[in-house]
Amino acid sequence: MSEYTKIMRDAAERGIRYRESLDERRVGPDPKAIAAAAGIYETLSAEGRDDAETLAMLDEIGSPASVAMAGPRFFGFVIGGSMPVTVAANWLTTAWDQNTAMNEVTPAMAAIENVSRRWLCELFGLPQESAASFVTGATIANFTALAAARHKVFADAGWDVEKDGLIGAPDITVVVGDEAHPTLTKALGLLGLGRERAVRVPVDGQGRMIAAAVPPVDGPTIVCTQAGNINTGAFDPVAEICSAVRPAGAWVHVDGAFGLWAAAVPRMRHLVAGLEDADSWATDAHKWLNVPYDSGVAITRDAAALKAAMSITADYLPTATEHRNPSDYTPELSRRARGVDIWAALRSLGRDGVADLIERCCSHARRFAEGLQAAGYEILNEVVLNQVLVSFGDDDTTRRVIEAIQRDGTCWCGGTVWQGRRAMRISVCNWSTTAADVDRSLEAMLACAGRIAEA
Ligand SMILES: Cc1ncc(COP(=O)(O)O)c(C=O)c1O
Repeated sequence: MSEYTKIMRDAAERGIRYRESLDERRVGPDPKAIAAAAGIYETLSAEGRDDAETLAMLDEIGSPASVAMAGPRFFGFVIGGSMPVTVAANWLTTAWDQNTAMNEVTPAMAAIENVSRRWLCELFGLPQESAASFVTGATIANFTALAAARHKVFADAGWDVEKDGLIGAPDITVVVGDEAHPTLTKALGLLGLGRERAVRVPVDGQGRMIAAAVPPVDGPTIVCTQAGNINTGAFDPVAEICSAVRPAGAWVHVDGAFGLWAAAVPRMRHLVAGLEDADSWATDAHKWLNVPYDSGVAITRDAAALKAAMSITADYLPTATEHRNPSDYTPELSRRARGVDIWAALRSLGRDGVADLIERCCSHARRFAEGLQAAGYEILNEVVLNQVLVSFGDDDTTRRVIEAIQRDGTCWCGGTVWQGRRAMRISVCNWSTTAADVDRSLEAMLACAGRIAEA
């Protein structure tokens, strides 16, 4: 057996063992394992170390210290769990090690990613000829889509922002909801549009933009809406906002890091009514599509605007092609073939499988809310999607219950402050979570809350 075969098999076996342990291991790692990982430093040797021993050390130290984020009872942040076929496709893609910048050089990657683009547009009900970029996550998907928006609204005003930059450019108005995700405002900052310069539109009790409060549009304008509030899961009224501002030439963007997936479920489509009227959409695949990190997608109706913002040429680069050239649509030149994991996920699930995955997570979220409410705890949001906000009493009690749940290790939930009140967030995004996982987690939550109440 070659050295290559030995180490790759060893890695596969270790990876499989880890994944198969996920259901039963503590979700938050043992503090001793974390302490061992913190002590991993050693002097960098001059002569190098043995490969097999390096991998063994990584597994022995890294596996016990890692959080079971990919497992069925991790409910923190908004975290997917990577389905077996997507991990396997990711491993194979890593083995191929293809630089997916140019169709001319890696045509198979470009072709597979183009299928993913078409399937995603179809699933979300977006125009088939939209452009898509396969990027690291929703942060960069927002950045990418907003770069296209910036190009178009300035071009309409006779300004070439890629060529001439922002100094001396016409005035531009950017509108965001008061509950815009901070990565969206970060993207605006990266684009030179300012993290704090945007007009902020007030929101209602669920964090939805109040459409009537969106200012009248005049001149270059980008309006950023959201599908899926990070805390409540609520949706901005995209249809109303589009019909108010698009006739005046504004570009409407939708940050749908996880909420966009509601569009793939016929029974939930009403939540994203009017989605297809917008100009650009950002979403994550590493959240609800359950592909491995890191994977996000930007989609823009105006493919030319995205291409104008992203494409480059150089004498040594074979960029001229009649096919879709991946790097014409991404901030990166060199990158892995992220769209392959997405292709594998979609091919494996099919349309019904995607809808089932999303609906299943939402029904688990409702089960959590009902169980907590029945035990006398207050649910702070309307559970319209996969997010639940629960208060266990005053802020300090809620904080202590969250700490106790994290220490207990049955499941993992994080905290937040929702409209002035501390809350525990439950986000259900993992393909492998079952009703039994919800019940087991509820039991642990209620036991922790009971102990804190008695203390
Ligand atoms: C609405 C929204 N936008 C953007 C992001 C950022 O996503 P990522 O961390 O994948 O870049 C998130 C993350 O949860 C989100 O919920």
